[in-house]
Amino acid sequence: MRVHLTFDVPAEMRALLRGFRPGPLASADGAITLLTDRVDAAFFDRAPRLRVVAQMAVGTNNIDLRKAARRGIAVTNAPDVLTDTTAECAIALLFACARGIVRWDRHVRAGRFRGWEPFGYLGTDLAGSTLGIVGRGRIGQAVAARARALGMKVVFATRRGGLDRALACDFVSLHCPLTPATRHLIDGRALRRMKPAAFLVNTARGAVVDEAALVEALRRGRIAGAGLDVYEREPAVHPGLLRRDDVVLLPHIASATHRTRERMFALAVENLRCALAGRRPPNLVR
Ligand code: DGY
Repeated sequence: MRVHLTFDVPAEMRALLRGFRPGPLASADGAITLLTDRVDAAFFDRAPRLRVVAQMAVGTNNIDLRKAARRGIAVTNAPDVLTDTTAECAIALLFACARGIVRWDRHVRAGRFRGWEPFGYLGTDLAGSTLGIVGRGRIGQAVAARARALGMKVVFATRRGGLDRALACDFVSLHCPLTPATRHLIDGRALRRMKPAAFLVNTARGAVVDEAALVEALRRGRIAGAGLDVYEREPAVHPGLLRRDDVVLLPHIASATHRTRERMFALAVENLRCALAGRRPPNLVR
């Protein structure tokens, strides 16, 4: 079977592709894709033999699922294996925001640390604070478990409601997929519902947040800061965010650990193998 990969596979993982012949999209029976690939009609037009797209990510917002279904192409994703890793990154951003970890690191490196201060460098405790989690899927629940262990009180917002209550928390962490309904869910209005001392964390998808509105909310002091792993127009980052000291910016790394990325790749290959063998893949999206 011929398979097209839209990326280079590290040598130590190539054994997973045993039995497949990697090659161009034009002659591929299956493709392994990334969240950075645009998998749309033009992609399918270039792949007349294609039977399955195995996405190496949980999110599939870059794939035109309806067009794939119309052409009889199965689409799979790679959930579960990245849940803990992504949740850990969200918690890391909560800590980074709450205690100014990155800002104070820059401060020390700049030689501006003059000694211990009784009322300087003050942050916010996670223990005793409230955390609004938008999205009650696997990752949202994994973040909730960790947050509760840290002594936080968790409030969920789901498709059925609860957004305003979640936005009223001390911290808000986003864990919903990007869909037409969640695009710019966190817009100017939502940001005005947050507290001036609150922090926003986004490890979901950039476009869930209206970045221009976020910059404006930070500029006006409507919220205290943000921890972002994802951006509306990746890899571009809103210049208004780059200039601010009250935001922590990561390069979309929430699932980026050695173990998890290897598992995500292995799961994508397994899905591909099942689909091409005529079996139901474990993570069939559509
Ligand atoms: C996903 O799988 O959708 C994540 O964003 C990858 O980091």
